[in-house]
Amino acid sequence: MPSDPLAWIDEELQVLQDQGLRRRLSVREGAQSPLIRLDGREFLSFGSNDYLGLAAEVMGPDSLRGLGDVGWGSGASPLVTGRGRWHAALETRLAEFEATEAALLFPSGYAANVGTLCALAGARDAVFSDAKNHASIVDGCRLSRAQVHIYRHLDMDHLAQLLAEAASFRRKLIVTDSLFSMDGDCAPLAELADLAEHSGAMLMIDEAHATGVFGENGRGLAEQMGVEHRVPIRIGTLSKALGSIGGFVAGSRRLVDWLIQRARSYVYSTAPPEAFASAGINALQIVRQEPWRRRQLQTRAALLRQRLAHDGWNVGASSSQIIPLIIGEPERTMLLSHQLRERGVLVPGIRPPTVPVGESLLRISLTYRHTDEMVDRLVESLGNCR
Ligand SMILES: Cc1ncc(COP(=O)(O)O)c(C=O)c1O
Repeated sequence: MPSDPLAWIDEELQVLQDQGLRRRLSVREGAQSPLIRLDGREFLSFGSNDYLGLAAEVMGPDSLRGLGDVGWGSGASPLVTGRGRWHAALETRLAEFEATEAALLFPSGYAANVGTLCALAGARDAVFSDAKNHASIVDGCRLSRAQVHIYRHLDMDHLAQLLAEAASFRRKLIVTDSLFSMDGDCAPLAELADLAEHSGAMLMIDEAHATGVFGENGRGLAEQMGVEHRVPIRIGTLSKALGSIGGFVAGSRRLVDWLIQRARSYVYSTAPPEAFASAGINALQIVRQEPWRRRQLQTRAALLRQRLAHDGWNVGASSSQIIPLIIGEPERTMLLSHQLRERGVLVPGIRPPTVPVGESLLRISLTYRHTDEMVDRLVESLGNCR
């Protein structure tokens, strides 16, 4: 009998198991909400990115009826016959919302980051990327074949030094999350814009977790920090606060035209169903018309951060609805997560490789739909797990 060429997987899985790093899937029943049923059990959940509570709202029966005769599948990539009028309408609304000339929809935020990075940087170029950028940015950097310079998290002196040392490249691109997805802290966008302008680099920011949550109009941290006009490449996703699915790039018409030519994750992937575009349009309208959702979320998040810090938890540098409890070791992190589960409270434990070794954390994700009572229950349950 020839040996099984996939047998090595069992050994590798066992290694992960022994290190406390093996991941397992669950099944949710019903819509996303703070009270969910997971693997047959009820939980109070702090484990979704549905920050404005729109996931269960944006695709009601009225929206489905309003879609008319578009069917479900789009049947082709956007450049062939896959782009329908709902896709085009959502792109127009996204550009209006972002106050940019144009916007382009991708199947996911992941695809938007990978496709945009590869379209803008190549083998003769240099990319400067924050050490804690999301995996989709990391993968885009790698795939682009550019020389990648990783600067220490939020360290502008380090970035300036790397930029100065890399003077001989054809093009330079600085890329960062605006709101970091695991630590809930924010990039210094004004300083990044200064450095980009000074060094002639392109600046790309990923507002995945900030869209809908920050800024007077909900456009994100670039709006909140007053630097939108200095950020020419803005990435967003409909999959988090906008309660849906699909990534987008907002910027100049020239940028979008280039992405249509060269962003392979856009060109070589089937356009998502048009129904998703209808949901996106609804979500943008709610973000515009109901600013109290994001304001209430911010207020509650600030209070929760204070309470947790007061109780002795290390919430890092979070200044947002994403609140980490930094524990350190994966085993202790997963034990706490498990103890909370036993009490019916779901707070995901985050381990390497999602976070660096030694920085495992419990990731509390607060949403507009969490009530004061739910937050009290979380704080009390955490107190009981110490
Ligand atoms: C910062 C950041 N960018 C991009 C993405 C990918 O977005 P999507 O889930 O829409 O693919 C994520 C998802 O977690 C993210 O955290």
